[in-house]
Amino acid sequence: MDKICILDMGSQYTHLIARRIRELGVYSEILPHNVSIEALKTSGCKAIVLSGGPSSVYEKGSPQLPKEFFSFTSEQKIPVLGICYGLHLIVHQLGGSIEAHKNKEYGKTELQIVRSSPLFEGLENNEIVWMSHGDQIKELPSEFKTIASTKNCPVAAFENQKLNMYGVQFHPEVNHTIKGNQIIENFLSKIAKAKKEWKLENWIENKIEEIRDALGQQDNVILGLSGGVDSSVTAVLLHKAVGSRLHCIFVNNGLLRKDEEFEVQSQFKEKLQFENFHYVNAQELFLNNLDGIDDPEEKRRIIGHTFIEVFESKTTELEKEFPSINYLAQGTIYPDRVETAATSYSASKIKSHHNLTLPENMKLKIIEPLKDLYKDEVRKIGLKLGLDPELIERHPFPGPGLAVRCLGSINKEKLDLVRDADSILLEEITNAGIYNDLWQAFCVLLPVKTVGVMGDFRTYEYICSIRAVKSLDAMTANFAKLDWDLLEKFSTRIINEVKGINRVVYDISNKPPSTIEYE
Ligand code: XMP
Repeated sequence: MDKICILDMGSQYTHLIARRIRELGVYSEILPHNVSIEALKTSGCKAIVLSGGPSSVYEKGSPQLPKEFFSFTSEQKIPVLGICYGLHLIVHQLGGSIEAHKNKEYGKTELQIVRSSPLFEGLENNEIVWMSHGDQIKELPSEFKTIASTKNCPVAAFENQKLNMYGVQFHPEVNHTIKGNQIIENFLSKIAKAKKEWKLENWIENKIEEIRDALGQQDNVILGLSGGVDSSVTAVLLHKAVGSRLHCIFVNNGLLRKDEEFEVQSQFKEKLQFENFHYVNAQELFLNNLDGIDDPEEKRRIIGHTFIEVFESKTTELEKEFPSINYLAQGTIYPDRVETAATSYSASKIKSHHNLTLPENMKLKIIEPLKDLYKDEVRKIGLKLGLDPELIERHPFPGPGLAVRCLGSINKEKLDLVRDADSILLEEITNAGIYNDLWQAFCVLLPVKTVGVMGDFRTYEYICSIRAVKSLDAMTANFAKLDWDLLEKFSTRIINEVKGINRVVYDISNKPPSTIEYE
């Protein structure tokens, strides 16, 4: 299958470039900027994209390409597209020059196409593009031609058809560049002549075959199923491949949303007819271990450890009955695995919550069927494999669950309050038809009581904070500007129906500087 490699120069958009290329039907992968030429050769890439990045090419320690990069691409006739910093690198390393410009360009900008080029086929002479740069090209290397300009940036795009090299100062991968997809499509089809062979249907068939080959006729596989999208899709895929040889362990840790344990069981046991779905009720153990703990990181650590303890003990029990449990499946997806230079900080933080680190003595081989996929691809595959759309489109829910939405030390009573309030909120959000417009919406129980009055009685009860945010990737998020009447409906229902909460507040903080979760 034809493949496009993206060399990551640290842009926050690197994964977005890879996703856009896949959406256009061509398989893509991200490699670090300092990848060796040997590794590039063996990658078998059809074309290379150099991503943007926050550095300046003259800065000490800024990402540079290996010396032999351009002789390799020209010998192998591999087309190259440089985006923003990627464009600067091509110019800098091939003898042109880059300068810091006094008028930084940021945001929507008008681009004028000054010379026809296969990269811009199908575009008008003037197009709107998304710019985000301080440096720009001062002088092109010889034989490179300017193909577009903006008011402040004379060389906003170039080509060298002989070397099959192209560069754009703007970001074709972001939505604000109106014809961005057309530009990427031109690069893929007209310049790289890449075949569009990346189809999820083929992927499913091939993956099922691959799993069957790996597991042979005997091996059984075990999976920790949380009911989230990644582990659910991993489960259905494995079930299609090996049926009853898949053992799913679903742990009720007492920190789940209302009715979640029933919904997950009805999906997998009843609807999808999983033969070996193992429900473990460990609520008491989790709550005992968390008793009196108020530090968020300590809560996370205890929950992680307790999960491993429960999972391991259930596996040991199952191994007695099924001695050929030799594999452990995980729902790792591509962004969990490939940390780009820009996301490594947050990615590594989030990964530590997700990944199940196995105890040394569990000698299971790991199988990660979704490891090359993006979340939207995982969702599409889940739907094709028959998972309910409600499950696939569910808002993200943190591994430590309601423990981090019940601030400070927790107990069953407080968890029930936040669980009930949350279920009312979600019901109303769904009724209002805005569930899918929101990235996340949830209730948080604040560890403070305030005075209220209900009927003739004075009350002294907890405050519930409602958080509803819009976001594209959780890296940044804005609070949702919800309708007052809707907010009033949430508050009235929660206060009337949840005994123990007498005040509701709406959180109007954005991320950054706040985070989405409270702990
Ligand atoms: P923050 O609160 O950092 O959250 O803005 C960003 C995204 O990550 C989720 N999140 C977690 N997910 N375990 C998880 O599996 C965690 O401990 C955790 N903390 C935050 C959060 O829900 C949001 O989608």
